[in-house]
Amino acid sequence: MQLTDLDTFPSSLPPGQHSHTMMALIRQAMTWLERWQEDAQRRPPLPSPVALPPVAPGLWGLDGASLMEDLDPVVRGSYNPWHPGAMAHLDPPPNPASVVGELVCAWLNNNMLAEELSPLLSQLEQHLLRWIAQRLGLGGDAGGIMGSGGTICTITALVTARHQRGLDGQQACLYASVDCHNSLAKALRVMGLPATALRLVPTDAMGRLEPNLLDDALQQEKEPVLAVVATAGTTIRGAVDPIGPIADVCRRRGLWLHVDGAIGAVCGLGQHHQGRVAHLGWADSLTMNPQKWLGIAKASAMVLLRQPQGLTDTFAVPLAYMEPARVAHGGDSGLQGTRPAEVLKLWLGLRQLGQHGIDDLLDGALQRAQALRQALAPLPLVMPSGDLHMVCFRPDMAGSRESSGAWSRRTRELLLDQGLMLSRPLYRGERYLKAVLGNPFTGVEQIATVVDTISASLSR
Ligand SMILES: Cc1ncc(COP(=O)(O)O)c(C=O)c1O
Repeated sequence: MQLTDLDTFPSSLPPGQHSHTMMALIRQAMTWLERWQEDAQRRPPLPSPVALPPVAPGLWGLDGASLMEDLDPVVRGSYNPWHPGAMAHLDPPPNPASVVGELVCAWLNNNMLAEELSPLLSQLEQHLLRWIAQRLGLGGDAGGIMGSGGTICTITALVTARHQRGLDGQQACLYASVDCHNSLAKALRVMGLPATALRLVPTDAMGRLEPNLLDDALQQEKEPVLAVVATAGTTIRGAVDPIGPIADVCRRRGLWLHVDGAIGAVCGLGQHHQGRVAHLGWADSLTMNPQKWLGIAKASAMVLLRQPQGLTDTFAVPLAYMEPARVAHGGDSGLQGTRPAEVLKLWLGLRQLGQHGIDDLLDGALQRAQALRQALAPLPLVMPSGDLHMVCFRPDMAGSRESSGAWSRRTRELLLDQGLMLSRPLYRGERYLKAVLGNPFTGVEQIATVVDTISASLSR
């Protein structure tokens, strides 16, 4: 072949691929975003329905201005976490530096699958996760891997637990409280275990797993136990299971303890609220989602192990098309193969917050939750206690002809009309309204309006 044959190759780059056009596009996007950002606190948390933009690419590619036009309805039709009334779920406004980290991550387009495709970022992930693990008390050898959300991380931890306990391919069961997250049921499906393999232990009145009942149930158990899961922050009421006593039971019985700290483990990073998640570091494995309370842009979640070698023991399969790694490839240490460098936004976000910023986020949310609880306390409500920054409640139905489902639906609508978004979880057979106070923009005004609206809803 003559080199001149290559003349027939297309000489132009794909649309936007020149570095000057890419930078112009990014600048255009920044200006566009600035306009929306100014508007963000005015748009309600839950938008009215918006028609989808065209989904298929046209024959010819679009310029920047047209792309921004495409994006407009996407913003108008999206959930808006920036509004002070956005308090339905664990999805606060994103940490600013993490948004920048996300952009830089996409521009770098490194791949955490293998070290040669993410030379520094792989190291950054290992070092940052080691620091976090040590900070949470998991010990000097601890470390882990990031994964795209808490569910993936919990599945990663439980598959590892089963493998480490020599139970692959065997019937095995899992213990957790009745208020555990549904990711445990998913983990069983992934492992080919029946739903009945999840043994649910009752909680006390505070919504915390009862260690004595756990111990009694384990005493009767006929099947091998792949792990016990303690939840540090249950999804609906934010209860933290007593990790220390549960760890004692596990140690005595030689069982693996996983802590689902998707919501609450970040308390272990702060300086004021470590006591709320006492003995977190006694776990064998732990999941934590900085995407929730700390507001690191999604996805930001990790699984940490006291002995991280367990991850490579479980997941390493030959990666023949890559240079060997100095420590371990990301792809050898977890479920995911190709994976974005989500560590970048976490690292940048934590650096921006600093220790005081983390404390302020945790303090602020807990104070708002306390204020809402106190203001609701005089009303005739059932309000299950919780240890973290969420508050859930429903009317005391005694003597009422309206069901909790009807009350919560009607009251949620009343709240939405005022730009306040709460969620409507089903908890132990009744519908509740739930507020998560992790949005730093939520102020006294929003809390007062929630209370007034709830009060008015009860006097019907
Ligand atoms: C206690 C708990 N664990 C795990 C998860 C799963 O996390 P993700 O939604 O990131 O998969 C959640 C989600 O809310 C949760 O509340």
